[in-house]
Amino acid sequence: MSDNHVVKQIVDSMSLDEKIRLLAGRDAWHTQPIESASLPSVMLTDGPHGLRKQEEGFGLNGSIPSTCFPPACLMAASWDEGMVGSVGSAIGEECAAEDVSIILGPGVNIKRSPLCGRNFEYYSEDPYLAGKMGAAFIRGVQKNGIGTSLKHFAANNQEKARMSSNSIIDERALREIYLKPFEIAVRESQPVTVMCSYNMINGVYSCENGWLLSDVLRDEWGFEGLVMTDWGAMDDRVEATLSGLDLEMPGPSPMNEKKIRKALEDGALSIEDIDKCVSRIVSMVMRCRNVEKKPYSVDAHHKIAHDMAASSFVLLENDGALPLGNGRYLLIGALAEKPRYQGAGSSRINPTKLDSIRDSLAASGMAFDYAPGYDAETGSTDDKLISDALRVSEGKDAAIVIIGLPESYESEGFDRKHMDLPSGEIRLVEALLDAGVPVIAAVLAGSPVILPFRKRVSSLLFCYLGGQAVGSALADVLSGRVNPSGKLAETFPLSVADTPCFGSFATDDRNVEYRESIFVGYRYYDWAGKEVAYPFGYGLSYTSFSLHSFDVRKDGDDVAASLSVRNTGEKEGEEVVQIYIGLPGSHIMRPVRELRAFRKVRLAPGEEERIEIRLSHDSFSYYDTELQSFEIEDGEYIIYAGTSSRDLPLSASIRINGRKEAHGAYAERGKLPSFESLFRKDVPRIKADGGITLNSTVSEVLETEAGKAILAPIVKEAEKAYEAIGGDVRTMMLSMLRDMPLRALSMNSGLDVQAIYEALKGYGA
Ligand code: BGC
Repeated sequence: MSDNHVVKQIVDSMSLDEKIRLLAGRDAWHTQPIESASLPSVMLTDGPHGLRKQEEGFGLNGSIPSTCFPPACLMAASWDEGMVGSVGSAIGEECAAEDVSIILGPGVNIKRSPLCGRNFEYYSEDPYLAGKMGAAFIRGVQKNGIGTSLKHFAANNQEKARMSSNSIIDERALREIYLKPFEIAVRESQPVTVMCSYNMINGVYSCENGWLLSDVLRDEWGFEGLVMTDWGAMDDRVEATLSGLDLEMPGPSPMNEKKIRKALEDGALSIEDIDKCVSRIVSMVMRCRNVEKKPYSVDAHHKIAHDMAASSFVLLENDGALPLGNGRYLLIGALAEKPRYQGAGSSRINPTKLDSIRDSLAASGMAFDYAPGYDAETGSTDDKLISDALRVSEGKDAAIVIIGLPESYESEGFDRKHMDLPSGEIRLVEALLDAGVPVIAAVLAGSPVILPFRKRVSSLLFCYLGGQAVGSALADVLSGRVNPSGKLAETFPLSVADTPCFGSFATDDRNVEYRESIFVGYRYYDWAGKEVAYPFGYGLSYTSFSLHSFDVRKDGDDVAASLSVRNTGEKEGEEVVQIYIGLPGSHIMRPVRELRAFRKVRLAPGEEERIEIRLSHDSFSYYDTELQSFEIEDGEYIIYAGTSSRDLPLSASIRINGRKEAHGAYAERGKLPSFESLFRKDVPRIKADGGITLNSTVSEVLETEAGKAILAPIVKEAEKAYEAIGGDVRTMMLSMLRDMPLRALSMNSGLDVQAIYEALKGYGA
């Protein structure tokens, strides 16, 4: 019997009550079982850089041990789809061993601003790179029979007010930038599920956006799986059902069960509407249940985490101090003992082991003195910590200084306010440099930071968050056992004021205006001619490479670009060849160039390889706002090849036939058009309507008399409960609470939101 037939039989055998029950989870992490239909409950759990399986409850702590692989921020810097696939596959094996059917990831949201607190969970500022990485991860996980949940669909690019904000984006930016990574991942790897985001896009919550979930995701891109809500993202269950949203998480949801029943009675929903969702849930359960339970090797997975990290750290500066030689070294930095290796929030993994940097360097046979230099929790220092560091540095050839962002600086749930490192850490590095100590700095952080000493240090390695093998991976790179080959998947600007969305990122409580349109990341810096600290795609190696003999030719609908890459240095190493496309003289505003392909190549000293990279016809497309489709503009395109977005020694032009006219806003280089002109009608801002609704945020309600009387004591209790949890969960929950819509308060709290709402409405009546 075909799978579809089995699914249909199961659905047909279910009563209406059972169908309605199945539409929301059994609890925080499981689907409902339907005993009469022998449909088991399956487990869905975070994700994305490891398995966060909690035995019970919603709390964010206390999950079973599993391998903490490097988060997406570091994985993306590998530019290595094979390696990302092997991490996905290892996570799939861990899911199978632990009876988990769906892992909640990958997250492919675009890094619109380096300030987004959750950037460590995302791949890139570039949609092509983010999409490719996401697709590789999904293929890796799903080859084990486990499903993924591609998230957060879509346009969730900040943490501030993430459950209530309205992302206002023009159609071209949406299609070319914010939806593109999802499109690539869906088309290339068909994730079993997609998770809708909390926010609205242009005034419509993602959970009930029929254009997004049905027209684009299913009809245009051919998505065959199930759409679930992010945890607590359900707004109007009836509208959501009609829009293509299948599963509400977490559950159960008695309030929405009632609404569905009523809608069926009123005729707002038909049984066919319900059956569509039920069939997709049943088909997901049937597909992902019963994966063979096999133990996995903790050591083998630790090794994969190690290899992923070691080949992704980005070498930003090096005057030859790295790799380390036989000198007398000193290790400084409290993070060397207590490394930051993952981000805070729902993705936090309880690792199977952890390689500290200090222990790993010692285990590799290096003898060194050590001084903490600052406090690991806060990054602050004092005269004593500095003078101790200076004292032990006497007579040493160089100091290896480990610095980075403390956990309180970046997390799911809130955004950074600035891009600075703690001033104590900067003071420490500068004190060493002023004393004439050569510094080899390694930075641990989930996002770019301003590095004021970057031109004074001997070497600078950006390690992002390295996963549980961070220490051994770093020891291997410092010693030269591994040659670094990471490349930035995002630009390091010179200052936060230089970022394209400066002034419109996380400024308003509700409306987030994406004023920079398609000019995100390097697309903006190149177009506006801005200097940056380190460009997108940049990263050094212990060897050197040269690219030559570029040839570009048409091959059917594709373009084939060939070039030779030579390792001109003395060490084996890997280089990432990057291909960008631009169209000078376009009729519409365009980035100067955009990444359209890449390939990582490993070469022995002196070795040369000829590679061919194919560019599909679609690589030349832009989104035409009048025709409402991706189109190709006729013209003489330039194809660039090189090793970073600002190091492109090879270029060639090629004529591509297409439409003589292109529709979309036009702008002079570096001058953004008015925001209003990017929209056909009014800019879709939302206004708080004055009255209290289930979508009013906690802080909006607290401003009313009813809120002060009824909600304030509840909020106080919730805050006390979060305070008691402590740690990063405390900070995350406290910062989210006031921006939450009222309806989301029921999640994880046992509160009867409907009753609270009625009481608020009835107050003073
Ligand atoms: C996060 C999701 C996560 C879910 C379950 C949400 O708050 O946004 O990424 O998968 O919680 O923990």
